[in-house]
Amino acid sequence: MTTLSTLNKFKKDGTKFTCLTCYDSMFARMMDKAEIDTILIGDSLGMVVQGHDSTLPVTVNDMAYHTANIARSNKHALILADLPFMSYVTLPEAIANSRQLMQAGAHVIKVEGGSELCELVSTLAQAGTPTCVHLGLTPQSVNVFGGYKIQGRGDEAADKLLADAKAVVDAGAALLVLECVPAALAKAVTDAVAVPVIGIGAGADTDGQVLVMHDMLGMVHGRVPRFVHDFLTDERNSTRSIEGAFALYQQSVREGSFPTEQHQFN
Ligand code: KIV
Repeated sequence: MTTLSTLNKFKKDGTKFTCLTCYDSMFARMMDKAEIDTILIGDSLGMVVQGHDSTLPVTVNDMAYHTANIARSNKHALILADLPFMSYVTLPEAIANSRQLMQAGAHVIKVEGGSELCELVSTLAQAGTPTCVHLGLTPQSVNVFGGYKIQGRGDEAADKLLADAKAVVDAGAALLVLECVPAALAKAVTDAVAVPVIGIGAGADTDGQVLVMHDMLGMVHGRVPRFVHDFLTDERNSTRSIEGAFALYQQSVREGSFPTEQHQFN
């Protein structure tokens, strides 16, 4: 079974690790077989499962329901679950909602933001709840950004993101996710912090990689993001099976053949 200690050792040894989003039992079982290292019950389920245009309508009860489905069906992966939009604005709400997700089977709670989360991160750590802080393109803030745009471009934005990353790690964050930031900035953050960093559209130098499961199986509604690779139809997946796609993703990330320069932003 993968734990935070496993991921810390991976970072120390330079072993790249995998994360995939997952929302239901059958896929969780297949990911167990492929030994995917970590699973994220992402609030992206609002878009790929529920059909919304953003992650904003997702509720804590939705997250708890899907987290429980995964926890029953996968014993190999470390399980991360998103606190959804506006469910961690106040500390008491954040604590109650984190408890619900941990009791549903999450091992780590993921929250989006920067140094403003320090008090929350440290309170949860003291209460036995590790956090993963998601920085860069944080989809819950789509209305602040004015769309899904690359973040951390330019010196000022890059310095702020690096400072935010260091602050939340100092406060006790156990993991970071970096989404859609220039590869050089992702490398700088990964080198600067002692905790494992998981990237999506953040280049090859983060400690781990995450993709939305539907994307990596070629099920994309609209434009295919630059950082996505379809592992289902990849010719190295000789069986063209979903299990084969998960295994190929695991192998590709471990050996460093995914992501390549074509998947990154500069
Ligand atoms: O909700 C999600 O799927 C995520 C990933 C894109 C990292 O946060």
